[in-house]
Amino acid sequence: MQNPYLDGNFAPVELESTVNELKVTGHIPQELTGQLLRIGPNPIKPDPATHHWFLGTGMVHGLQLRDGKAQWYRNRFVRDDDLVEEKGWPSVAGPKNELQLGGGLANTNIIYHAGKRLAVVEGGNLPVELDCSLETVTRTNFAGTLPGGLSAHPHLDADSGELHAAVYSPLWDYVQHVVIGAQGDVIRAENISVPGQPMVHDCMITQNYFIVLDLPVTLSMEAAEQGAPLPYHWNPNHNARVGLLPRRGSAQDISWHEVDPCYVFHPMNGYEDSQGRVVLDVVRHPRMFASDTLGPNEGTATLDRWIIDRDKTKVCESRLDDEGQEFPRISECLTGKPYRYGYCVTLGAGFSVGGLIKHDLQAARKQTYSEGAARMFLEPVFVPKPGATAEDDGWLMAFVYDSESNTSDVVILEAADIETGPIATIHLPVRVPFGFHGNWVPAID
Ligand SMILES: [Fe+2]
Repeated sequence: MQNPYLDGNFAPVELESTVNELKVTGHIPQELTGQLLRIGPNPIKPDPATHHWFLGTGMVHGLQLRDGKAQWYRNRFVRDDDLVEEKGWPSVAGPKNELQLGGGLANTNIIYHAGKRLAVVEGGNLPVELDCSLETVTRTNFAGTLPGGLSAHPHLDADSGELHAAVYSPLWDYVQHVVIGAQGDVIRAENISVPGQPMVHDCMITQNYFIVLDLPVTLSMEAAEQGAPLPYHWNPNHNARVGLLPRRGSAQDISWHEVDPCYVFHPMNGYEDSQGRVVLDVVRHPRMFASDTLGPNEGTATLDRWIIDRDKTKVCESRLDDEGQEFPRISECLTGKPYRYGYCVTLGAGFSVGGLIKHDLQAARKQTYSEGAARMFLEPVFVPKPGATAEDDGWLMAFVYDSESNTSDVVILEAADIETGPIATIHLPVRVPFGFHGNWVPAID
């Protein structure tokens, strides 16, 4: 049976490689010293009949830049128990949770916090620490301070250095607000009762609130009993709502606000306006895992604005952009704060990625940048320039897959004007599968 999530650039790559000689077109900025990392699933022996895109051993891909040069590209498996057994490799160090998805895989995001590179995933698995060469070091529960698993989308409060995450597990009837301090230990874990076991992929913060997305994709016991590897399906009987939890409040302090049924993997950002209302910009899918239960493929994902008033039961919804798009990013020092610019990839039917979009939300304008249908951009990452004062004074970096050459590049654009095209393109001799998320790590080996 054919599975679209194993075809083309969704397909896993077999080899770990290290490439020290990389061809560059243009000039890499001298100030860009660090590593551009990204991650995705790279399943070892997937069953095409049941394989879900979100599953499979993680693989991290990294590009190290220094002094205007591309020093290396390398890709490494993020080791889990199933992988090391299959390969005959040494066991993975560190603690192990009671319920591990896929042998403790970590395949959805790679973040850098308190000096550590962490591969992370939702649903109950522990983070996996990698070293600066992207080799697996250990699973970690932050010196025993993490009660369960983590999330693929912790968000950094740039003022406090704290990471905020919404953690869920198929074993829990609650969503946990986890805060990891700047030193890398969990300093808060508050259980919010949420019946129905929804899939909670992401979250957001504002100055005063932690935002919980309780949307109608829920654990299906029927699908689980039938052996679905990821038994979370669209559930029209589950109410769609958004919760505002005061950041240091107890679970009873949360207020819930209704939205029209939909699914949101990723907010772009959230903030409080002058009237104290929460403004939440989201990439909104009309449904999720309803007709296609193997990957996200339920119609156009739009950029929407939700305005949430603590005194009102309904969220005020409006559409900012009806073009299909996903993987929203911003200048992350503004997470939770008023902001002007956001960056996405365009998204067509069947989760087909294309070019880049830069939104100017203040002027209600956008720029787009494409290199043609054969070149497919993955999630962009914004890196501010040293000493920047303008919000978009920085670089936008993205991996691009070229379907004609079957290889990938990394493109660096001036974020202030993406339409002028790349200032540098670093050519890789291999392809980087579509995967999910990544970040710029301003530290090197
Ligand atoms: Fe995500």
